[in-house]
Amino acid sequence: MTTILGTGAMGTALAETLLDARLPAVVWNRDPRRAQPLTGRGAIVADTVEKAITGDGPVVVCLFDHRSVHDVLDPVAAALTGRAVLNLTTTTPAESRELAAWAAGHGIAYLDGAILAVPAMIGGPGSAIFYAGAEAVFAEHRDLLDRWGESTFFGADAGLAALYDMAMLTGMYTMVAGFLHGAAMLAAEGVPAAEFARRQAPFLAAMTGSFAGYAATVDAGNYAGGGQSLRFTEAALAALLRASTGQGVSTEVLQPVHDLVRRQLTAGHGDLDTARIFEELRTTR
Ligand SMILES: NC(=O)c1ccc[n+]([C@@H]2O[C@H](COP(=O)([O-])OP(=O)(O)OC[C@H]3O[C@@H](n4cnc5c(N)ncnc54)[C@H](OP(=O)(O)O)[C@@H]3O)[C@@H](O)[C@H]2O)c1
Repeated sequence: MTTILGTGAMGTALAETLLDARLPAVVWNRDPRRAQPLTGRGAIVADTVEKAITGDGPVVVCLFDHRSVHDVLDPVAAALTGRAVLNLTTTTPAESRELAAWAAGHGIAYLDGAILAVPAMIGGPGSAIFYAGAEAVFAEHRDLLDRWGESTFFGADAGLAALYDMAMLTGMYTMVAGFLHGAAMLAAEGVPAAEFARRQAPFLAAMTGSFAGYAATVDAGNYAGGGQSLRFTEAALAALLRASTGQGVSTEVLQPVHDLVRRQLTAGHGDLDTARIFEELRTTR
């Protein structure tokens, strides 16, 4: 029997996928009213964490953040000794590693997971979950994990799934902010965001085709290969900034990108490939 601690939007989706496949699950949520609807799908609802973990199946944790994971697991750490804990709560790499060390200290087999999907996607096409940490837990419960989405294991370092997750989300959030910036530019002329979205989505999808080229340049560490130069990109970004200001739109999203490029021009790298932004970013570590 699988235990699921946390039946918020995501925990509920995880539980429903198992229950719909007639796999037994016991669920717990801090606010019991959020777990109750799952009884209709066949879940056992436990009123305490202690009761929820009395079985011998995997303990799946899907709570709000790193702090809430400790809030819930710390009091039952002794009872979890010898058990497998799969933590699907979003955490930073350092937080995942801390949880893995905490688990090891209690004799708990810890698998860290990062969900690359929204609740409605769980169990359907496009849902992916990254894992890292205890490979034996990943292997033993692979059938279960694959029901939620495509499962990928990144290695014994428990921070790696979270690191990939954070890197993926960085790309997503900055892209969304860029889309909203563009929508704000057009909104000044009364163009609905929906109209812009219809045009922006296929354009951005097509542009992702250039990632492989940027990646090849970055991996080779050779920015003199003749791709789009930083000088060209600087002029393009400067035009975007002028156009944004002209539309009365804040440059908060775009300005840092321009600053990054300008700094490299000042340092004499104007003829190099725009992919050199990578070098400029990682020097801050
Ligand atoms: N939703 C998404 O699209 C999505 C996508 C990828 C990853 N995730 C990750 O999945 C996790 C859950 O997200 P969600 O969408 O299910 O969020 P949610 O609907 O807000 O649910 C949060 C859950 O955490 C519980 N919780 C919060 N603080 C707690 C504490 N101190 N002690 C005990 N329980 C606590 C809540 O309990 P109560 O109901 O009692 O408040 C609830 O069960 C997050 O880490 C999120 O980043 C979500």
